Amino acid sequence: MAQWLIQNGHLIDPANGLDDVLDIRIVDGNVAAVGKSLTAEASDEIVNASGLIVSPGFIDIHCHLREPGQEAKEDLVTGTASAAAGGFTTILTMANTRPVIDQAIIVAGMKYKIQTDAVVRVEITGAVTKGLEGKELAEIGDMAQAGVRAFSDDGFYVNDGRLMRAALEYASMFNLPVISHSEDCCLVADGVMHEGCVSAKLGLKGRPAEAENIAVSRELMLAEMTGGHVHIAHVSSKGAVDLIRAAKAKGIKVTAEVTPHHLCLVDKTIESFDSAFKVNPPLRTNEHIVALLEGLNDGTLDAIATDHAPHAYEEKDCEFNDAPCGFAGFETAFSVLHSRFVKTGEWSVQKLIQKMTAGPAAAFDWQDRGHLSVGGLADLVLIDPNKAWVVDPQKLLTRGKSCPFAGMEMTGQVVRTMVNGKWVYQDGKITRK
Ligand code: DOR
Repeated sequence: MAQWLIQNGHLIDPANGLDDVLDIRIVDGNVAAVGKSLTAEASDEIVNASGLIVSPGFIDIHCHLREPGQEAKEDLVTGTASAAAGGFTTILTMANTRPVIDQAIIVAGMKYKIQTDAVVRVEITGAVTKGLEGKELAEIGDMAQAGVRAFSDDGFYVNDGRLMRAALEYASMFNLPVISHSEDCCLVADGVMHEGCVSAKLGLKGRPAEAENIAVSRELMLAEMTGGHVHIAHVSSKGAVDLIRAAKAKGIKVTAEVTPHHLCLVDKTIESFDSAFKVNPPLRTNEHIVALLEGLNDGTLDAIATDHAPHAYEEKDCEFNDAPCGFAGFETAFSVLHSRFVKTGEWSVQKLIQKMTAGPAAAFDWQDRGHLSVGGLADLVLIDPNKAWVVDPQKLLTRGKSCPFAGMEMTGQVVRTMVNGKWVYQDGKITRK
């Protein structure tokens, strides 16, 4: 395996408190040394990273790879290529595949396929209920033993509180989190966007923020009752942020994530009736965004996650009411947030990197990820903070070509991604060096 010396990069490793121009040597898939002006060894292949940021590889604790069963939308090859291009070296894929990942044998099949097809580390979520039907608990124990890292019916709320209680109790025996898609099913009914002035004006059925707040409340109470770890996916409402903050202060075992789209986009964009903006939970208003930003600042929200949810362009290219929810997110996540919050001076780049590396790793207690410690895994990214580019969905490596950021000008982009000591992405292409 090649030995790499990455020289003169601006190394930002929030978990280790590093923020300086440093060299880093990679040997046999591990970080061998970090320091000022390391002396090159004969076997080193040198990468000049001056002007670039060197960061631990990003960790996405929420994505959909569509395999098995819906490979026309995405598969392990295209999904992990897209993740690598976005700088993600570990991703957690959700269980709403066809068949649903609700049995140990399906987890084993996924693991087998991941070995041959994936260019980044793919962790698996098992379903909470069989078939995501919300009626009967899935094989929680067997799937835990087969290696899933979390449980979730994401896409759906587990409406039956008794089942969610049992899932939290059962998952806690394996120290695993239960991820909740918190939207009360009856309140959202067949709503297609945030309920408010814009939905009223457009005559589209709404999904009220209260549906999220109510659903989150139950999860927090069940987490308190069981001692289990609940993770709230894609938080999008002010009420949810307030509830999670209070629960954390009380010592309840809760973690939470927020997506780039919920931080940057509002319901008003839907006045275009462009289904690229259709997502669950829905894009809300500025008032909610302000609360999400406060939540990220004070640690109520632990991580940024993409909810990469690709659909075939033809499926999205229809009337707003009929389009499926979600869109691709890996390749735009860092750049969107860097352009919107770092370039404008609202956030430090260190903060953004923390929420995409150490934050998600700590939320799920993945101690071997999210940092560049000597002896640890060589999963890292090189970022050009000044690179200007325009989002052209046709050029993205994902199959999900519908993108709410299409046409937007970005500043800052991942230029290289290394997983386990090998470059898997470089100059717009997948490599395996
Ligand atoms: O918009 C969404 N799409 N939200 C989800 O929770 C699921 C996802 C999907 O799987 O398409």
